[in-house]
Amino acid sequence: MKSYQDYWKTRLGFMLAAMGSAVGLGNIWRFPYITGELGGATFLLVYLGFVFLIGIPLLLAEFSIGKAGQKDAVGSFQNLAPGTKWHWTGFMGVIGGILILSFYSVVAGWSLFYLYRYVTGAFWTEPDGGFGQVFGEWTSSTIYPLFWQALFLGITLFIVIRGIKGGIEKANVFLMPALALLMIFMAGFVLTLDGAFEGLKFLFQPDWSLLGDPKLYLTALGQAFFSLSLGVGGMLTYGSYLKAKDKLPTATVGIGLMDTVFAIISGIIIFPAVFSFGLSIGEGPPLVFITLPSIFASMPLGNMIGIVFFVLLSMAALSSAISLLELPVAFFSRTIGMTRKAATYLCTAIIFVLGVASSFGYGIWSGVTPIGDRDILGSIDYITANFMLPLGALLMALFVGLYLNKEQALANSEIQSKSLANVWYFIVKFVVPIILVVIVIAQVFDITA
Ligand code: PHE
Ligand code: NA
Repeated sequence: MKSYQDYWKTRLGFMLAAMGSAVGLGNIWRFPYITGELGGATFLLVYLGFVFLIGIPLLLAEFSIGKAGQKDAVGSFQNLAPGTKWHWTGFMGVIGGILILSFYSVVAGWSLFYLYRYVTGAFWTEPDGGFGQVFGEWTSSTIYPLFWQALFLGITLFIVIRGIKGGIEKANVFLMPALALLMIFMAGFVLTLDGAFEGLKFLFQPDWSLLGDPKLYLTALGQAFFSLSLGVGGMLTYGSYLKAKDKLPTATVGIGLMDTVFAIISGIIIFPAVFSFGLSIGEGPPLVFITLPSIFASMPLGNMIGIVFFVLLSMAALSSAISLLELPVAFFSRTIGMTRKAATYLCTAIIFVLGVASSFGYGIWSGVTPIGDRDILGSIDYITANFMLPLGALLMALFVGLYLNKEQALANSEIQSKSLANVWYFIVKFVVPIILVVIVIAQVFDITA
């Protein structure tokens, strides 16, 4: 099979692609609105704790399964644990990836539409009724958002269909450096605004009294996993395209750090801007689509800044969507045996159709609230980030800690230092399962409460 021979050209190419997967709407859209709702610095602190204590060690575990298994999310488990049920972890991941991309592409479609409105000049000044009304009208219309969602998925398909070296790696080698430059530029600009300091205080000065709220921990864990692309097998799949000589540990740490830095930078872009204009940070999912545009409209060069911001948001979304599409495509082509081309078209079509529900959830199906008071998009986001990713990651940790023997697990991790390797193994085998079991159970109580 052709796709079986496809590898990353360089280790740097792999790193940029994995960073591309990690850095996305999770950093620039999800992180700020969640942090805004949950008390700023306190949330950031718990989030950072999860990223470093369990996120990065788990990321290494996930990469190592793919690199040793040499196949997609399902096939890698079949290779490493033939005749067992471990590959169900991969099935769940493939379904999770499809579900995530279904709503992810809706939000990415909003971003493309905003970019278009900035390029044409329509959003350079605040429209009558304000951006809130524009956002509401636009997202509730039935057909237009579907067009932009389809366009976004079409671009994703165009890249994924070209394979690893020729499509995904090439796109990310361009996208990631461009993204980094744009974000640093935006952060530098925002910090010059009057009142930026208030925003920084919100992001960096913890309010310890908030630490007692269980929601903080549940949400921070989901955000850490979502942001690191952990637990669905997308990173596993990327790891499987590494050549034997390209080692995992430092690359993994670099990817985890970069994702975290990008989340903080996007906080540095968004909170100072919101505070200096005296707007509300508890806006929820529309935060970057309502609050930011009205800030851009009232500041010098805001039209240019708006273009830059939505280019950035769309590019970040694209590099993540690529990995979310590659996950099921790799399964359908490598384990099921379809051609890469057929698999790419099929997966894109399934994802688009599922995504229609999330899109309609903002319009003709806005009364539908599957979980609590969450709309369709919010419900799928909640189920995937807060259940499927932690559960998938838990199963991967158990696979490495229980199914593999210690020598295999350590060898697959490729950690050189014996003592570091032992620390990593201890975390994956004991710390992660305990924390994840507690959190998943707490989550069930939370949902039924
Ligand atoms: N990590 C991506 C983001 O932050 C989302 C994602 C989740 C991508 C799971 C792949 C797998 O936007
Ligand atoms: Na991320």
